[in-house]
Amino acid sequence: MGEKSMTAEGFSIRQMTEGDIAFGMTLDEIVGWNQVVADWVRFLRYQPDGCFVGMVGGKPVGTVSTTCYGTEMAWIGMVLVHPDHRRKGIATALMKHALDFLDARGTQCVKLDATPAGATVYEQLGFIREWDFHRYQKDGKADQEALAIGAGAGGGGFAPPVTDREAFGVNRDQWLMRLAEGSRVEQFQDGYGMLRPGRVATYLGPVMAQKADTAQVIVERLLAETKRTVFWDVPGPNEEAVKMAQRWGFAPVRPLTRMWRGKKLIVGRVKWQYAMGAPATG
Ligand SMILES: CC(C)(COP(=O)(O)OP(=O)(O)OC[C@H]1O[C@@H](n2cnc3c(N)ncnc32)[C@H](O)[C@@H]1OP(=O)(O)O)[C@@H](O)C(=O)NCCC(=O)NCCS
Repeated sequence: MGEKSMTAEGFSIRQMTEGDIAFGMTLDEIVGWNQVVADWVRFLRYQPDGCFVGMVGGKPVGTVSTTCYGTEMAWIGMVLVHPDHRRKGIATALMKHALDFLDARGTQCVKLDATPAGATVYEQLGFIREWDFHRYQKDGKADQEALAIGAGAGGGGFAPPVTDREAFGVNRDQWLMRLAEGSRVEQFQDGYGMLRPGRVATYLGPVMAQKADTAQVIVERLLAETKRTVFWDVPGPNEEAVKMAQRWGFAPVRPLTRMWRGKKLIVGRVKWQYAMGAPATG
């Protein structure tokens, strides 16, 4: 039914450009998501051929992003449809477009982090639940300014440790180096962590460490950098990480589900994952 109504309204899909970021931020505000302009710029510049916008009557109505880590693994994110255009098959069409792009590259494993509404769409496209997790939040002072990442304050020159490859499952060094440029970074031999500004709250993650003690020091140092409300997406299967978030005074605020589709599930080492990097990119 979706396809029929979309054809009637002249639905089409095109590549996203930086000119679409203002529309993306409008969608972020409508749904209360945390991305700032720098986040959109980052994933768009990283994967300019894999980010798309749905159009109806010459106007943008929805978005989707892909972030490829070689051909082994890729993430789909930013699946957003304007409330005036929901339940017409637009998210499904954008997802199919993104999956065609990833399949054409020979991507082995496609992952995403789904909201409950999103999970219904993705299940119908063959995505399988890998594990559930929660966004945790710790309230800060509302009048606090966003974390500033001025020149020299970010993690320029960050060398991603091998710990990340084993924890995440594939090499995403090129992506992490870009993320570090917009983040405060703490790095140790057996782990690292980042903290970056968000629209609603400061975002803690990724935090990857071989030992809980290392993760603890990383989290402590990063949290000392902000008095704002902080979001922390905690991998559900890592009980140490869940306990750590609770000890720091964080409480679960949103259920999410990691899902995957493809030829081979890449699991990584979840016990080394203390905080995700972002629901849109893993
Ligand atoms: C989730 C979202 C992207 C869905 O977009 P959409 O264009 O309305 O989705 P589709 O029309 O392609 O939906 C396809 C099917 O998925 C299911 N579905 C979609 N939205 C649903 C919802 N809110 N609740 C339950 N089922 C839903 C339905 O089965 C639907 O088919 P139907 O309309 O024939 O019943 C949109 O509601 C949105 O932007 N929500 C806020 C942001 C968000 O949660 N994004 C997902 C991030 S993982």
